[in-house]
Amino acid sequence: MSNPSILILPGDGIGPEVMAQVTRIIDWFGDKRDLKFDVETDLVGGAAYDKHGVPLSDETMARAMEVDAVLLGAVGGPKYDNLDFSVKPERGLLRLRKEMDLFSNLRPAQCFDALADFSSLKKDIVSGLDIMIVRELTSGVYFGEPRGIHKEGNERVGVNTQRYTESEIARVARSAFELARKRSNKVCSMEKANVMESGILWRDVVQEIHDAEYPDVELSHMYADNGAMQLVRAPKQFDVIVTDNLFGDVLSDCAAMLTGSLGMLPSASLGLPNAEGRPKALYEPVHGSAPDITGQGKANPIACILSFAMALRYSFDEGEEATRLEKAVEKVLADGVRTADLMGPDGGTPVSTTEMGDVILAALDASL
Ligand code: NAD
Ligand code: IPM
Ligand code: MN
Repeated sequence: MSNPSILILPGDGIGPEVMAQVTRIIDWFGDKRDLKFDVETDLVGGAAYDKHGVPLSDETMARAMEVDAVLLGAVGGPKYDNLDFSVKPERGLLRLRKEMDLFSNLRPAQCFDALADFSSLKKDIVSGLDIMIVRELTSGVYFGEPRGIHKEGNERVGVNTQRYTESEIARVARSAFELARKRSNKVCSMEKANVMESGILWRDVVQEIHDAEYPDVELSHMYADNGAMQLVRAPKQFDVIVTDNLFGDVLSDCAAMLTGSLGMLPSASLGLPNAEGRPKALYEPVHGSAPDITGQGKANPIACILSFAMALRYSFDEGEEATRLEKAVEKVLADGVRTADLMGPDGGTPVSTTEMGDVILAALDASL
């Protein structure tokens, strides 16, 4: 039988820098755990535009559909800011999500004990935090029609449309309820049903799916603006949060700061399971290409590394090995090893991206 396949798309900016550390970790699992993967690497985002004139070639898209998992670094950057909208780096990522039908984006925000002092919030508000944001990823205002910029009389008008069908809401709700059953059995659904019809439908459908299929899960509803406030005021009240594409984008960046740094947050984007029960899947850090620190060896690779841990768990049924990797990261943080983004007010000397990779590999060795 052939090895499971992984397509690596490092992308732009710090994407290749953090992905280089993941590649070392994939090799470690092959050498030390006999967990071998067939890995291929390709271009996405600005890097693909530079070579092919498009942010994702049809060939790369086709490979993404075939492999067992895609790992993506980050896309975008100032060099590409003035490109035509249709070929912007971000369009490559959005095409992957849409064509792979990755409707359920899991964005866990976990505060490691060693980092409780590094959040911009008080320690007791974040210590022990472990929440999961489930962001709908293939619909909503990101994809709704009509869209565009047109002229009305003398002025330009920008249009995007928030649109959700019942089935789109139902499937992401199910994925949130399923996850909640494996966690603390609690889901909070966020929308703005007070001002948006799509929000009213969202609330109704989530409630219906709950009543019919998941009555054992505790369900609450919250307006998303209040949700943002509550995430900062008392984040530990939440277990699973389910929300739409745009609110999920914003709320997950907000949740990132609860953990100390955006450089810590991994994500998994999952589709429906295939015949073998495996979902189509793409794993990527929540952060972007961080142009302000690109090429300086400052990027924190942990978000990308923890995204690979999610791949081990959700795509390769290797929950124990995923935990091994997460524990190695936890150990390194507990030992006080920090990249520059995790430097608290007490200072200290940051390690580089590669050095962070070195110590995580050493912690993996020590776990054997
Ligand atoms: P960003 O996430 O790239 O950076 C925000 C801030 O966080 C910056 O100060 C950056 O230095 C810091 N940061 C991010 N990741 C870090 C890491 N791993 N280690 C240390 N510090 C880190 O967001 P932005 O600046 O708004 O966007 C830059 C570009 O990235 C844009 O083109 C945007 O569209 C793109 N972007 C891509 C993705 C993605 O590929 N999934 C996500 C978000 C933004
Ligand atoms: C994210 C990013 C993307 C989004 C962009 C780069 C398309 O911000 O993954 O959080 O808006 O979904
Ligand atoms: Mn985002």
